[in-house]
Amino acid sequence: MGTHIALLIVTAVALLKHSVQGDGVNNVKNIDCCQFFPVIDDLLDLFEGPNTCSEDGALMVRLAYSDAMGIDPMLSGGGADGSLVTFSAVELQDPANDGLDNIIDPVRTLVENHEIEAGDMSHSQISDTNESLSVQFAAAIALANCPGAPRVKFMMGRPAATAPAPIDLVPEPPSSPKEALMNENLNNIDTTTFILERFSSIGFSPSEVVSLLAAHSIATASDIDSIVPGTPLDSTPFIFDTQLYIEVALRGFLFTSTGENQGEVGSAVQGVLRLESDHNLARDSRTNCFWQSLASNQTAMQAQFAAAWFKLSLSGHNATSLTDCSDVIPTPLGITTPPHFPPSLSNDNVDQACATAAFPTLPTEPGPPLVVQPRQQDD
Ligand code: HEM
Ligand SMILES: *[C@@H]1O[C@H](CO)[C@@H](O)[C@H](O)[C@H]1NC(C)=O
Ligand SMILES: *[C@@H]1O[C@H](CO)[C@@H](O)[C@H](O)[C@H]1NC(C)=O
Ligand SMILES: *[C@@H]1O[C@H](CO)[C@@H](O)[C@H](O)[C@H]1NC(C)=O
Repeated sequence: MGTHIALLIVTAVALLKHSVQGDGVNNVKNIDCCQFFPVIDDLLDLFEGPNTCSEDGALMVRLAYSDAMGIDPMLSGGGADGSLVTFSAVELQDPANDGLDNIIDPVRTLVENHEIEAGDMSHSQISDTNESLSVQFAAAIALANCPGAPRVKFMMGRPAATAPAPIDLVPEPPSSPKEALMNENLNNIDTTTFILERFSSIGFSPSEVVSLLAAHSIATASDIDSIVPGTPLDSTPFIFDTQLYIEVALRGFLFTSTGENQGEVGSAVQGVLRLESDHNLARDSRTNCFWQSLASNQTAMQAQFAAAWFKLSLSGHNATSLTDCSDVIPTPLGITTPPHFPPSLSNDNVDQACATAAFPTLPTEPGPPLVVQPRQQDD
């Protein structure tokens, strides 16, 4: 009884503190969700402060995606169960997960720190100490830290992972030519069809795949071209915007360093790396019109991404057995810069792929051609 009263007081303090910060917490419907507030504070430290779309934040989003993809109707794997953290020794052997080791240790620390506090029954019953919960929760906070991102929904209560996901379930362009050569199975060089079929096998339509790729608007690559780690995939890696859809649709011939790495094709903006998989999805007849439709509409992109992301976060789970804690997720900052072509580029540079509608007419940002700098590396 005493513990419960103490918990309520702690919770009330947490509520007060957060309502002062104005993140809408007054609306928390389920008091069990309040245990997440201390975790948010730790996550904001990891992500370099509120509203900072950091490298660790982007990695966290990629971790949550890769973890959720780890499920197959035949081979099994638990989906969004945190197995990539729990069984990292196995799952990191998948080259598609290269680089995720950098975020797994911080997640583990987070889990352990909060486990220390998890003495009382109420706490362990809800168990924010589970990797499954922490991965999806941490990614929702990481997204909320990126200006322009939608406020994604979050549900808690995923049971702990019981086994690692089978490898080879996460689509990837091989990380390096060397790796591709070493890999006897050249099917590993994913075609658009392979990617769409992989997603389709777990219930995602081609349009949902395109929607999820909005996440590449905050992405940088470090393994594709390891000579220039932290190369952004669009010109605005600190903002969750539609620039990826615009810039990947442009004809491209620029490379960040030595030229074409495996999985990389020419980009339209100096310093930006274009993934071959993104390039192909922007042009493939199954996805090109939808790709184009997201290029000039931030609101539509946000809505489509949020829906597909929430679905991905439930991979392997049934929402009816989870608890909705969406109201603990802060509202991300909005953005004011409208969709645009980077300096010197215009509709003339669009590689028109959609056969039934023209690429939207957009303004060109004034100034000399951009040279986008790599994201500063933590290590
Ligand atoms: C469609 C198949 C996909 C492929 C082939 C793919 C491939 C890649 C590659 C090669 C990188 C760069 C890795 C590096 O060199 O460091 C990357 C980064 C990233 N990907 Fe994807 N990806 C796909 C889908 C997704 C989806 C669906 C999401 C999330 C919804 C996602 C989120 C991210 C994020 C956030 C990063 C950046 C990580 C960072 O900045 O450190 N990707 N992806
Ligand atoms: C993870 O969650 C499950 C049920 O949700 C719980 O039984 C288990 O004890 C939790 N694990 C930890 C380490 O708290
Ligand atoms: C942008 O998308 C939203 C939501 O899908 C839609 O209501 C709106 O009409 C679109 N705006 C334009 C200019 O197409
Ligand atoms: C989720 O669980 C509910 C209630 O147990 C069940 O009716 C429904 O069919 C399940 N949905 C899926 C997709 O498994």
